[in-house]
Amino acid sequence: MSVRTPIVLDVDTGVDDACALLLAALHPSLDLRAVTCVGGNAPLPDVVRNTLSVLDTCGRQGVPVGAGAARPLLEAPVDARHVHGDDGMGDLDWPRSNRGPGSRQAVELLRDVLLEAAAGSEEDRITLVPLAPMTNIALLLRTYPEAARGLERIVFMGGAAHLGNATASAEFNVFHDPEAAAITLDACADLGIEVVMYGLDVFYGPRVSLAEARDLVAAHDTGPAGLAGRLMAFQCERFGADSATLGDAGAVCAVLDPDGLTTERLPVRVELAGTWSRGRTIVDRRDWDGNLAHDPHGQAPALIDVALEVDGPRYARLWLETVTGKVAGFPG
Ligand code: BDR
Ligand code: CA
Repeated sequence: MSVRTPIVLDVDTGVDDACALLLAALHPSLDLRAVTCVGGNAPLPDVVRNTLSVLDTCGRQGVPVGAGAARPLLEAPVDARHVHGDDGMGDLDWPRSNRGPGSRQAVELLRDVLLEAAAGSEEDRITLVPLAPMTNIALLLRTYPEAARGLERIVFMGGAAHLGNATASAEFNVFHDPEAAAITLDACADLGIEVVMYGLDVFYGPRVSLAEARDLVAAHDTGPAGLAGRLMAFQCERFGADSATLGDAGAVCAVLDPDGLTTERLPVRVELAGTWSRGRTIVDRRDWDGNLAHDPHGQAPALIDVALEVDGPRYARLWLETVTGKVAGFPG
């Protein structure tokens, strides 16, 4: 029986995916069972290389890594190197891994890890944390729906009730592969999978200051804390800001500390058409009881715990204490 929370990350590493990987790899209450990669912030080969580098930095070479979809289901791929640097991880010249990904493709790796969890006890069920376009997840749930038996829940970074970033309407991960996000939500409704949406409404809340980032680098030249400080300093410097968001790492904080998040269970669907709104998550906040007789347009079938507020300083503290090894029972 596992006392730690079994977790799998699906990433497009990505500066803030790297921050999330540091937390998932190092926190003693998490049991990181696998990491799967998808093209997004950077092309897939860069994402895989960055992911392996972060895991190596954490001494977690044993965590299986699977390379997945190189492109969205329908959209042409676009990257976000203007945000994450040319190499997708802040152009830090950080030591590269000598390893490659495992031989199992991401969807097969996810299937195997989930079916193994399904064969175990309740405590073995996996919390799946997609932090990237949901191409791998959509393919998994449509190809191997039986794997959902191994899921505890999905906590994904993507979407928003109120904001956009890739466009005025849409958040990057959903915008990048709207069909995948729509398929994932549809499959979750069908298969009875609990979902938390950690979207842009909370994404910018947990922050680390440039001064804190520089202190980290000064105190730790190498290792997880040195990488953590450099990642945050890169973001501050790129945007000329005196602090930067933990981004995707906040979704991992939400797994560790759900009380730091305020959520509301709401119907959500993904806009797949729209002239300016493709990729928007339509969060239904109408003040009604869901009685379809009153409204012919009806509710979305997917009822999701939408994160609306976050205790940013609490999550930032959790992240900083973990990457600096101050959390009790730190494995390294
Ligand atoms: C999301 O898109 C990427 O740029 C980040 O890694 C995060 O997952 C924010 O919209
Ligand atoms: Ca990401």
